[in-house]
Amino acid sequence: MRTGLRGRDLITCEEWTKGEIDTVMEVALDLKRRRALGQPHALLEDKVLAMLFFFSSTRTRASFEAGMAQLGGHAQFIESKTTQIAHGDTAKEIGEILGRYNDGIAIRHVDWKVGNGYLREVAEASRVPVLNMQCDLYHPFQALADLLTIIEEKGDPRGLTIDVSYAYAASYQKPMSVPISLILLLTRFGANVRLTRPPEFRLHTEFMDQAAGYARASGGSLEVLEDFDAGFRGADVVYPKSWGCLLETDDAAASATISKKYTDWICDERRMGLAADDAIYMHCLPADRGIEVTDAVIDGPQSVVYDEAENRLHVQKAVMALTM
Ligand code: CP
Repeated sequence: MRTGLRGRDLITCEEWTKGEIDTVMEVALDLKRRRALGQPHALLEDKVLAMLFFFSSTRTRASFEAGMAQLGGHAQFIESKTTQIAHGDTAKEIGEILGRYNDGIAIRHVDWKVGNGYLREVAEASRVPVLNMQCDLYHPFQALADLLTIIEEKGDPRGLTIDVSYAYAASYQKPMSVPISLILLLTRFGANVRLTRPPEFRLHTEFMDQAAGYARASGGSLEVLEDFDAGFRGADVVYPKSWGCLLETDDAAASATISKKYTDWICDERRMGLAADDAIYMHCLPADRGIEVTDAVIDGPQSVVYDEAENRLHVQKAVMALTM
């Protein structure tokens, strides 16, 4: 177990060592156990987390807020549109000022080519840890919750075949942060990761190279497939979800038009039948039901989406308790 994490930001998992992420898993399981047993664990009494949202959320907001309360502290919900950010408050000012009121600053800012830079600027100015509740490039707490879920369901990720796949969605052009964070984290843990996506939905070359390097070091692998069905074949874990083809176009309408070529990329029972018999279905949610995945799959026996959503709470509590 690694100690000495007090004061650390969590903007990407890649800035934490594997040993530190193992510590998050250990602490998360301990806090999960304590909550299940009804044991109080007020590790952050009198501490306050600012949660600054530039984009909507169900799970992230609710789990951070519940987590702070369970740790004996408080979380303040701040929506950018009800602040003076639109009237000139800079990232530096937000870091300086919220850092003086609070013991941590959590931010969701998914605007393409803006979000990650904003978090970095706030972190530069802040005297307290900055936690990434999702930016344009990374969703570290989702990836940590997913890793914990895989460990709970399947044990050590080493040697598991995990299909991180594009699926079609009509609701909106979803950020690329989940597939990026997943391929980076799971290759570090020795999984055989498949990134399955149409050609227009590629991820940044730098992230692919980084993940390939992690796979070489861990004894795992990274392969890219363009055939949706092939991604499912023999997989232990399938994670088909949508994202926008943001490296092709910055324009959401153009991305939506391109994505319409792939309306048949829906996770259904036939495709689940191609995976290993005991494969699990994962999705970070929200999912476009009937479009990205059928009800029979997401509500079926192989789906672990509610455990996955629950684990957001436990990993976030672990990181907050370790850093704040
Ligand atoms: N998975 C996830 O981040 O959910 P929300 O967008 O509802 O927070």
